[in-house]
Amino acid sequence: MILTYMGPGEAPPLPQLPIFTGPAERAWSTKFFHECNYLQGNEGNIDPQHLSVLHRIAPPEAGNERGRRNQMMLGTDLAPKIEVEETDYGLRISASRLLGDGEKYVRVSNFIMPNASAFDGGPLQDPTKTAPRDNGYWIHFHVPIDDTHHWKYSVACCYDAPVDVDYMKRAVLDEVGENYDLVRNRRNRYLQDREEMKSRTWLGMGMNFRVHDRFAVESQRPISDRTREHLGTSDRPIILMRRQLLQAIDDIRQGRDPRMIPRDPADDPVKDLVVVSRRVPEDHDSLAVGRDFGRQVKAAAE
Ligand SMILES: [Fe+2]
Repeated sequence: MILTYMGPGEAPPLPQLPIFTGPAERAWSTKFFHECNYLQGNEGNIDPQHLSVLHRIAPPEAGNERGRRNQMMLGTDLAPKIEVEETDYGLRISASRLLGDGEKYVRVSNFIMPNASAFDGGPLQDPTKTAPRDNGYWIHFHVPIDDTHHWKYSVACCYDAPVDVDYMKRAVLDEVGENYDLVRNRRNRYLQDREEMKSRTWLGMGMNFRVHDRFAVESQRPISDRTREHLGTSDRPIILMRRQLLQAIDDIRQGRDPRMIPRDPADDPVKDLVVVSRRVPEDHDSLAVGRDFGRQVKAAAE
């Protein structure tokens, strides 16, 4: 990956993300071709609701024990409570699903200005060999090729161990064809299988989540018509992301540095970025799950 700074003045220091600061073997990246505008691609990442619908797999089909448990929790509450707070890097998003036993499942993910997200995207080591644990996260960077095509750079980063590259190749790249294009795409209707939809998956497009996400963002057309959308409370992260982007455009026009452009290396905008998923009592403050458990995870890794 090559990073570019396209704004005015000197390039700022790189944000202190583990993918830039840690040993090379603790990160792994690939990319996926997308036939739509980059922004709707990133909007999919910061919509936590979609996990309960788009990626639903019948629990017996969901692979390992962790996958089955996750599918049970995601399927128990289809309308998670979504809370958002603004941060120096963008947004911290918390999605809470009631489990019906006095507990809730809280997932904390993030929007990172201007085109990225960080979230719990699955194990970083082979779950059949190592018990999955909170030891890192995934970042997606959506980078425009032109107005109606983009690359999704998908980066796995681990705090404390090498990313298992062989496992990644099997788990993530199983449906990738020529030139980083997924085998399932618009041109073949993502090979949707109606029989599969009856019993195995909600979408009928196989088990690879990258395919599901690509379908969801490309089927909005090459550039989504925002004049016809009806945003609701679960779209708060998307609304706030658009406001931050518009503010950043205005900042640049006025000669100010936008959010996420640190000029002082000591003032790192991502220092409070955490990704964590936890089962907690129903009355636990969901945004505090990110602040408290996330810091514990980071501290344990450091
Ligand atoms: Fe997704």
